[in-house]
Formats: sequence, C-alpha cells, structure tokens
Amino acid sequence: MTLKEKVGQMVQADLSWSENVKQLLREGRIGSLLTIQDVRSINEHQHIAVEESRLGIPILVGNDIIHGYRSIFPIPLALASSWDVDLVEAVAHASISEAIAAGTTWNFAPMVDITRDPRWGRIAESAGEDPLLNSKIGAAWVRGYQGYRSETGRQAAACVKHYAAYGAVESGKDYNTTDMSERRLREEYLPPYKAAIDAGVKTIMTSFNDLNGLPATINPLLLKQILRKEWGFEGVIISDYDSIGELIFHGVARDHKEAALRSILAGVDIDMMGNAYHYHLADLVRDGQVPEALLDEAVLRILRLKYDLDLFDHPYAEESRISSSLMRPETLNLAAEAAAKSIILLKNDPRLLPLHLEGKTIALIGPFADERQSLLGCWSFDGKAGDVETLHEAIERNLPPRASLRVCSGCSFDGDAADLASAVAVARQADVVLLAVGETDRMSGEAHSRAHLGLPGRQQELVDAVVATGKPVIAAVFTGRPLAILKLAQEVPSILLAWHGGTRAAQGLCDVLLGRVNPSAKLNVSFPRSEGQIPVYYAHKSTGRPAESSGVIQFNEADKSVYLDESNDPLFAFGFGLSYTNFTYSDLRVLTPVVEKDGFLRVSATLTNAGNFTGTEIVQLYVRDLVGTVTRPVKELKDFQKMTLAPGESCSVEFDLPAGELAFLNVDLNPVLEAGEFKVWIGPDSTRGLEGHFAVR
Ligand code: BGC
Repeated sequence: MTLKEKVGQMVQADLSWSENVKQLLREGRIGSLLTIQDVRSINEHQHIAVEESRLGIPILVGNDIIHGYRSIFPIPLALASSWDVDLVEAVAHASISEAIAAGTTWNFAPMVDITRDPRWGRIAESAGEDPLLNSKIGAAWVRGYQGYRSETGRQAAACVKHYAAYGAVESGKDYNTTDMSERRLREEYLPPYKAAIDAGVKTIMTSFNDLNGLPATINPLLLKQILRKEWGFEGVIISDYDSIGELIFHGVARDHKEAALRSILAGVDIDMMGNAYHYHLADLVRDGQVPEALLDEAVLRILRLKYDLDLFDHPYAEESRISSSLMRPETLNLAAEAAAKSIILLKNDPRLLPLHLEGKTIALIGPFADERQSLLGCWSFDGKAGDVETLHEAIERNLPPRASLRVCSGCSFDGDAADLASAVAVARQADVVLLAVGETDRMSGEAHSRAHLGLPGRQQELVDAVVATGKPVIAAVFTGRPLAILKLAQEVPSILLAWHGGTRAAQGLCDVLLGRVNPSAKLNVSFPRSEGQIPVYYAHKSTGRPAESSGVIQFNEADKSVYLDESNDPLFAFGFGLSYTNFTYSDLRVLTPVVEKDGFLRVSATLTNAGNFTGTEIVQLYVRDLVGTVTRPVKELKDFQKMTLAPGESCSVEFDLPAGELAFLNVDLNPVLEAGEFKVWIGPDSTRGLEGHFAVR
C-alpha cells in the first residue's frame, strides 16, 4: 500500500464532505463512510471502492442504529429498565438485521456511558446510573449486534462508545468538561466499556469531552495504558465526529496538522470526518514526525476488521432483500413486547390499574394523545413517524365491548396552544382519565440537554386542572430522561413511566393498561425531586456527617450532609418499580457468614407472589463494605435475577457471588479484597430489602 492508501483506510467521510467522495474512493483515500442510509447509494459507492480503486478494498458503512433501524424499539434507557439482557440481545439482533439489509456494516452502538445527570440529553442513549447494570446491558447489545449474520453472510461490527466518562459532563451540558478521580473513573465509569470488550466488541469510539485536562481522543491513560495495555483491546479505535478537529477548540492543538499528530500518537486509528488525517497524516510521516509503523498497525487493524466481517466476500448489500427485511411482523411484535416490558409502574394507589373498561368511558388527554414522532424518541433517523400508531388509535383498537373513548390534547408541548377548559369538559364526561404527558423526542439526545426538568409547556397546569375534576386519573409519562415531576407524583394516583417507546409504544402501553402485561420494569436511574439534587444516585458515599433520616431536613440535622430546603431522597429510587401483584420477601439466609477471599458469597431469600396476578420480579442483591481502607458506597448492586411467579407461588432466590466481586481499588489504585464486615440485602429496590451480614476473611 502507498502512504496515501494507508491514510485512506484511516479516513471516514460522509457524503457531505467538501471533497469529491467518489473520486477519493477511486484513489483509495477513504476507508469508510458514515451516515448514509440509502442502500442504492451505499452500493454505488462500494462498487467504486471495490471495482475502480487500485487495491479494491471494500469500505465499511457506519450508521447509528441506536434502538432500531426502521422498526424503532424503546430508547436504550427504557430498554435497560427491563433489566432483561435477553430482551436487549433480541432487540439488538432484530435492529441489526434490518440495518444490515439496508447496507450498514458498522453500528455506532452501544453507548455505555454511565450517567447520573438527567439534564444531559444523552441519558436517553444510556443504560442509566449503575456500573453493573450498564455492563450487563452493554454486553448484551454487543452480543446481539455482532452475533447476527444475514442469510447472505453479511455482518456488522458494534462500536462501544464514548470512551470515556462522557456521561459525567459537568452540569449535564453536552460536550462539557469532565473531571474526576482515577478511582471513580476506574471503579464506576470504566466497567461497562470493559464488559463490552469482554463481550467481543470489535471497535470503540473516543468521546468529545476532555477528562482531567486532556481530551479523551488524545488521552494516553485511556487509550494506551488502560485500553490497549491493561485490557488488551486489539480492535479499531475511531474518533467521535471530528473530535480530532475539535482539539483545536479544546485549545490543545494549533491547527489540524497538530491535531492529527496528537491523535495518531495517542493511538486513534480512524478520523471520523477525516479532516485532520486526510489532509495531514501523510505529511506528518514524510516530515518524520510520525513513524510509518504506527500507520501500519492502524491499517492492519482496520483491514482485519474488514476481513473479520467477510466484507471482501460480501461487499454489497442486496437491494432486493430490503423491503422484505424491514418492519416484519415478528419485529413489530418484539417492539410491542419491548415497549411493554420497559414500562415502569411508579404508583398505583389507590389501584386504578389494570383498567377494566367494559361499559366505561375513558378520556385520553394530553399532547401525546395523537402524537407519532415523539414516541420514537431521539436517534431514530430511519424510523418513520408514519409507521407509528398513536395512543388514540391503539386505545380505540383495544377497547373492550361497550367501552368508549374521548380524546383531547389539552395543550401543545410548547404551551403555545392550550385549551384546558375542553380537557376538563372531556374529563368530566369520563369514568377514568388517562393523561398522556411528557417531553418530545427533540428534548433529549445529543446536544439536547435541559436545565429545567419539569413537564414542558403548560402540561403541569393541564394535570392540575384534570385532577381537580375529581375523576380517577392515570398518568402515562413519555420521556427520554428522568423528569422532576414531584407535583404530578403527589396528585395523580396511578403513574406509568412509558419513556419513548418506539414504533409500537402505544400497543405496549395498552397491553400494560389493560393488564395483558403485568409491569415488571424497574428504574435504572434515580428520579430527582428537584433539579438542585442532581446528581442524586443510590450508590453514594456515606460522608463524615451522614443524615440520620433521609426525609426533609430536621432541625437537629443542621450539621449533617443535607439540604436546608430539599430532601436527600430521590422522588423514585434506583431499582424501584411496582407490579399489579405484591411480591413479599422473607427468610434471608446468609449461607456463607464467613466468605473466603477465593470463595463465594452465597445468600438466598424466599420470594412470594402474595397478590392476584402472575408477575415478574427483579430481585436485587446489594452489599455494603462497612469499613475499608478507603471510603465505599453505602450500597452497591452486585447481581439481580428476574423471577416469574403465579399468584400464591413462592420460590427461593439464591445468589452465588464470587468474592472477587467485592474487591475495590485501594489507596494506590490496586484491586484488593479486604477482610472485614459487610451488610447484604436481597430486595425489590435500592431502598428496601432483607438485611443480613457476612464477613470476608
Ligand atoms: C455522536 C456519536 C455518533 C456520531 C456519528 C456524533 O455526533 O456523538 O455518538 O456515533 O456522531 O453519527
């Protein structure tokens, strides 16, 4: 390969690139393209690369298939709240099968950025606040995306992103600075990336943020020390969209040439959008500033990826298969199932749900009543609003005999149009009201952070007015992030968190409303009572002055770690979610009161379905290391299991946790498992559960 051809493999461009993309492909100067959806265009460009370039190396086509291609599934934050790794894997499989048919061979997903800041719009793409849950869900995405091979042998690589700590951007503002201790980075933020690598992810994307003073794209601790050396990752490292060029704005490179120099020396294989590598990498080699061997290593990794994906044998998407591959009935059924399994019952007191609508009138009120686009959620470019069934349509289709539906939007999302009087009139004529409120798909996602997390526009006024009618009210909240909805939570008796549920969100919601699906999802992220609490998360440290009660400030707690004007508690805690049935926990047994360092912690409890519905419970295992040489979180999720029980049925839930999972980083940042006392809980969420003790020896 010539120097130019080597650089070419390291350049990724899109069709809007200022250069003549087709000519560059002929010259072997582009190795991959991004965000082209049109399969004919993809093949046209591939033909040029394969048939008209000197070496005939096929291009990779990268797209963001974040929660579905044409059939859109719930946003990743929602799906992860199912705590269902098999479901996530199945969704990944179905998504990539559509995307591969449409020409994608590289999927820029999963995102595994831990985040504890719901102001950050990209929380919608994450699995939430917890390292363990993020790790398990992230690995499932990777297995699902990379485990699929089409009938014609086409495959796609996954790309874990954004490495690293992008979810910790200061003040939740996208692209902002991150600054954190190496302890926190390694213990809390890095495990999900490592889990994706252990699951075999073939590529990784650097993040936009700087971390402790150095942009992630040129951060030697992240890229060289941890990723390559400690984790032994041999796959391809790609920058984020022009994050090499952005080194100039970060103020760590004078120009694109210096940005290219710093990035290649840091170990970035591909420049997404190419502006720095395309124009300067060859010169840097000729000037003697960059050893050509570095390019050889990068190109080898890229070519190996193309070989691994069998791209040389199967370079072309089969255009004729595309129509039969998209929106298959089984995919749409999976979308409805995923939507229902991602819905969290936050409140049902008194029990209005499930609904029995025979002979009754239900009023559907709120800006989501006839909404299509926003049900898709952010990052659903190939999803079509026209494919989406509205709540209005789905409820009408699902109405039982002699039931009737009345519909009124009440207000728009932005509050410009509001007719609260009509909404109240419609509510008065109904036996029960379903309020469909929340934020639009445009309010979360990349570059869509929010400082105010209440219901947008005049929706809270709408809620107040409808509640004031005295009718039984259920709220379905559609959102891409945790919202600060304290008032709604206080005044509405039954609340379903429906997230942005995708193409079949409305069917999923109907299944839950009517009791065909008993809700089982649980929060993977804490809901704040107010924005001032952020970040609020369950695995916090004790502090030297822990609050004795966690309620609103007591006068005698004035010297404690509390707010003067807000509770420490979240509105809804991590792990929380109700069911139509009642699960009870009893008989905690710590089977290993003393755990050997090379042994296992074994604990069990009895779970009973004490209610009247078959239901699925996510049983959670938490521990606390009581005394360590460094501070430890007050609780850490260590494992979970999903159990399905019929009414009256009981089962024993047993956890076998390798003692090594109790280790942490000591003062020198080396992993240690220290002898000492621990608390352990088996329970339904991060605030409740049966408590026991054990010791590590
Ligand atoms: C995002 C990435 C995405 C890339 C390509 C960037 O702006 O941060 O997550 O994969 O664009 O679309």
